[in-house]
Amino acid sequence: MKSIFSLLTDSASTSASQMDAIYLFLVLVSIFVCIVVFGMSAVFVIRYRRRPGHSAVQSPEDSKLEMIVGGLLLVLVMALFGWGSRVYFHNSRPPADAMEIMVTGKQWMWKVQHPSGKREINNLTVPMGQPVKLTMTSEDVIHSFFIPAFRIKQDVLPGRYTRMWFEATKPGRYHLFCAEFCGTEHSLMGGWVDVVTPAEYEEWVKGDGAVAANETPVQTGERLFTTLGCATCHGATGSRLGPDLNDLAGSTVKLSDGTERVADDDYLRESILDSQASIVAGYPPVMPVFRGMINEDQLMQLIAYIKSLGGGASN
Ligand code: CUA
Repeated sequence: MKSIFSLLTDSASTSASQMDAIYLFLVLVSIFVCIVVFGMSAVFVIRYRRRPGHSAVQSPEDSKLEMIVGGLLLVLVMALFGWGSRVYFHNSRPPADAMEIMVTGKQWMWKVQHPSGKREINNLTVPMGQPVKLTMTSEDVIHSFFIPAFRIKQDVLPGRYTRMWFEATKPGRYHLFCAEFCGTEHSLMGGWVDVVTPAEYEEWVKGDGAVAANETPVQTGERLFTTLGCATCHGATGSRLGPDLNDLAGSTVKLSDGTERVADDDYLRESILDSQASIVAGYPPVMPVFRGMINEDQLMQLIAYIKSLGGGASN
């Protein structure tokens, strides 16, 4: 696309080409409608202008013509609606095999942690041709994670998780922005996305340096699970005061007030931070509240550990 319209940025993900196709179609339809409306206006202004010997004639309503035009327009907008919905659903449902990368926004930087535990700041290194899911949260205000070359953007909110996914199709370096005004250094809150081949990614993950990992998020989560005392009530050998966490993630949980909830990331988050909010049926409300005691990183790592205990949760 870049070669045709230098106004457009690179198109480097599977959803970028879909998004560009919709936009191109919308632009062509708009141009066509403009030509028809302005062209007919011009023709009628000349043809039916006021001049001697001609007087206006009232034409009866042509309901057949109205039905045809209305019907064609209906087909056009419904086709666009169907097409747009398909792309929207495709973009909002990460594939089950997507690699999960954690992203935390804070004034004014992006912190990234890979499944291997490796961290980056204001940079996102991803393998080409592999679906990548970003699970994102903020430590302070609302930010927005925006990669123009992938045509994806998602608000990043304090107190909950949002997610977005992509599959990069072209190696290279692409801009990464914060797209929500978040304070004086908002315009500096950005960086680069590096798309590399899967082999280069493996190499990069293994490579050491200041940000090399010695633990995966799951391992850190498991360690926290013990040091924070979670294992006392939830562990296999503990007192069993709390529910079993094996196969919990992604399953449906019955609560003491009779309702049911799916144990997604947001449920796990709430159950740790604000443990009295949703009590699982059959258990006493004795778990301490962890709000203010652990940070967003630790929370994500605990959730990564709970998800590693099975349950098949994909997001
Ligand atoms: Cu973060 Cu703007």
